[in-house]
Amino acid sequence: MDLEARYRKRASQHWRDRLLRWLEPPAPFIVNPAEPKDFPLGRWNLYIGGAGRVVQGYVNIDLFAVPGVDAAADAHQLPFPSGVFQRVECDAVLEHVRDPAQVMREIERVLAPGGYAHLVTPFCHPFHEYPKDFRRFSLDGLKELAGPLEVVAEGWRTGPTATLLAIVLEYIKLLLPYRAWRVVAHGVGGWLLFPLRYADLLLLRSADARRIGNHCYLWLRKPAGIA
Ligand SMILES: C[S@@+](CC[C@H](N)C(=O)[O-])C[C@H]1O[C@@H](n2cnc3c(N)ncnc32)[C@H](O)[C@@H]1O
Repeated sequence: MDLEARYRKRASQHWRDRLLRWLEPPAPFIVNPAEPKDFPLGRWNLYIGGAGRVVQGYVNIDLFAVPGVDAAADAHQLPFPSGVFQRVECDAVLEHVRDPAQVMREIERVLAPGGYAHLVTPFCHPFHEYPKDFRRFSLDGLKELAGPLEVVAEGWRTGPTATLLAIVLEYIKLLLPYRAWRVVAHGVGGWLLFPLRYADLLLLRSADARRIGNHCYLWLRKPAGIA
């Protein structure tokens, strides 16, 4: 299925799509409760790559003009003036762009002085094309992209058990020859395995969680002196 059709299905009210969404297992990860979230939103906030989502309080841009997206735009060249956004959210997008350093320059440009950017990227995670999948990031690699933005918080958003479950579910699908079998296996496997995700509440407390961490995060602040 192409990407636009997948996004439209996420928002579809057709009874079959609603039933399939209802049967979907819970996510195979929990979000690290230690990650700080209370950085202020402003009058204008930008969400990059929110196709198929409703993101209250943000201007939502994506490559695809599907429900929930306010403007179809490429993050390499944001169609906004400089210094307008108090917060920029870039969650699971940088692995999909050709030139993450250019996207970071654009994020820095559109942020207001004193504004915050939130980056989340996969480290150990299966290949997933939206619409391409170019790379993975360690926390150190992600920090290299921060440029003049100050790191105000860093860590692991999803942990080693999320990595394990994501890989096991992909592995099971690899063994099955038909798409219908893979869909069922993903559903059944997801329901059986998801309770294990809570092990990350413990594992994320260890510094060694980073060895097979799933997604890492950074909170960055644009210093007041930068235009
Ligand atoms: C893995 S999804 C993440 C979606 C959302 N942040 C989430 O966590 O569910 C990546 C999104 O980034 C979008 N995307 C990829 N390249 C982009 C680009 N160059 N500019 C804007 N959006 C892009 C994709 O279309 C997709 O919707």
